[in-house]
Amino acid sequence: MQPFIALLTRLNETWQSLGGLAESLERPPAEVAAWAHRLKEEGYPLELGPEGYRLAPGTPTPRALKPLLRGTFGQLYRYEGALGSTQDAMRTWAEEGAGEGALLLAERQEAGRGRQGRVWTSRAGAGLTFSLLLRPRLPLAQLSLLPLAAGVALVEACGVGGLKWPNDLLAPDGRKLAGVLLEAKLGAEGVRYAVLGVGLNVYPPVPEGAAAVAEYASRSRVELLADLLDRLEARYHQLYHEPEGVLEAYRAHSLTLGREVKVTTQQGGLQGQAVGLGPDGALLLKVGGQIRAIGAGDVQLVGQL
Ligand code: BTN
Repeated sequence: MQPFIALLTRLNETWQSLGGLAESLERPPAEVAAWAHRLKEEGYPLELGPEGYRLAPGTPTPRALKPLLRGTFGQLYRYEGALGSTQDAMRTWAEEGAGEGALLLAERQEAGRGRQGRVWTSRAGAGLTFSLLLRPRLPLAQLSLLPLAAGVALVEACGVGGLKWPNDLLAPDGRKLAGVLLEAKLGAEGVRYAVLGVGLNVYPPVPEGAAAVAEYASRSRVELLADLLDRLEARYHQLYHEPEGVLEAYRAHSLTLGREVKVTTQQGGLQGQAVGLGPDGALLLKVGGQIRAIGAGDVQLVGQL
């Protein structure tokens, strides 16, 4: 453990003086002040005021998250400052034997990635960027619904907006609030583990008149994280015993179904009417009187939301 992390473990949302912190850490105040500077550089939301130091309210430290957890997801938790991508760090942890539900959250990613090879950028200390480890024992048919189940958990936890297929959370004004990246490690027996990455912009500039977005944005990050983990766990378990229920919930939150859309796939672009979902979560597109099932691609909604 780097020495400056000792300071992180002492901090919470209450202001503490530099003198008091130095005394409890048994270090000179100048050294503790340098640690504080380092924590800020790493992306931790440390605040400095006339009364000393504190962590921004709602910071998802392990001490703040643990009492809010209702299930098993997040019980095993690593809270990091800056790293490359939480997906890669989680993959390493998974290879070391971390169990299902292990959570790794970073305040800043230097190489965050999104779907379709895109870069994912986020503001340090503002959103939620994390990866969750799953070790599914689901048949392939249910497994392919996992991205949709994650989308349902996301929209229900945020309580605002809707889902653009497969799992982009869009605000009522069409702005993207969150995205999900699912990466799986395959073995001879099927999926060895899956890493579910979530990037969420918790504090977007609130569009005028969008009360629901304002409410969403004002919630504490740690509370939102706990709620999201709880919903992810519930929807994930639902895939085992009632996958149709996940699809039903997804349809209710979809912004894509019933719309004219343009879809970009690796095979090229298509435009048509999004008419439904296949049992595997594929997007069913009606193009020139024919139904095409799209397994993976990027959707653009045609016209206004
Ligand atoms: C997308 O909409 O393209 C998916 C974005 C997923 C971003 C998250 S942030 C945490 C995790 N680590 C990454 O590098 N990516 C995912």
